[in-house]
Amino acid sequence: MIHEVQRTAQASLLSWLDHPSIELKDAVSNMIFSVTAKKLISYDSSTSNEEMWKHYDAFIRGLVAFPLYIPGTAFYKCMQGRRSVMKMLKELLDERTKATHRRENIDFIDVLIEELEKDTMSENAALDLVFLLLFASFETTSSAITAVLRFLTDNPKALQELTVIHEALRLANIAPVMFRKATEDVRIKGYAIPKGSKIMICPSTVHLNPVNTDEPAGGASKDFMAFGGGLRLCVGADFAKLQMAIFLHCVVTKYRYQLQH
Ligand code: HEM
Repeated sequence: MIHEVQRTAQASLLSWLDHPSIELKDAVSNMIFSVTAKKLISYDSSTSNEEMWKHYDAFIRGLVAFPLYIPGTAFYKCMQGRRSVMKMLKELLDERTKATHRRENIDFIDVLIEELEKDTMSENAALDLVFLLLFASFETTSSAITAVLRFLTDNPKALQELTVIHEALRLANIAPVMFRKATEDVRIKGYAIPKGSKIMICPSTVHLNPVNTDEPAGGASKDFMAFGGGLRLCVGADFAKLQMAIFLHCVVTKYRYQLQH
């Protein structure tokens, strides 16, 4: 896995040299997507005739938009993006289910097919799961890498301290909110939260609170919740940090770059 992440980072960086400038977030998204989509669904953008990550991009751009379902609106493009990805995933699942020979390298789709054969989940739930995992694995990490490069440009000294990844995650708040449900009545700092309440946690209120900024940005501190916490802690946290560390290593050891505003 490490070699694959490194190969993709090196190949992407090399291909960017051909351009006078690149749109960093798009280029990094494409790079991360090609690693995770290959692992999860054996998707290869160079052999596929449709670019799946572009449909994801349309979906993400309209994720927090006024829900007006009219052609041309961000919400409409978001829904179309999701529909296109789901269609591609369904075709892939059907193709694999029908295939008679067993593949050598098993991916996440093969695991899901086994579960579907055992009737442990519905096809819709399986497709939703792949959709979610692909989304969770590429949008977050690509935003984080973009933020790291931005902060590194403003503060090159940060590279000498290996806190740069955590610090960028703290400042950028890639996942702006997370949710919980109170399973019993609780009282926090004088506020009564009745059992059954749905709670929206906003990490930036903690991450950007000047009272906490003297704290070292660490993985498990209660003042650092970029990956959430407790039972629902992000399952991809270590993978994301690995991808970011490898990419950053390749950038800073072999390339020079400049941010354009
Ligand atoms: C910089 C990158 C990432 C950030 C900042 C991030 C952040 C988060 C956050 C805040 C949560 C909610 C945790 C909670 O409610 O306590 C979460 C959940 C999740 N993340 Fe990530 N994530 C990242 C990368 C990834 C990657 C690479 C994957 C998959 C390979 C992934 C898969 C998931 C999944 C499946 C959940 C749901 C876990 C559950 O509900 O049990 N994430 N992530």
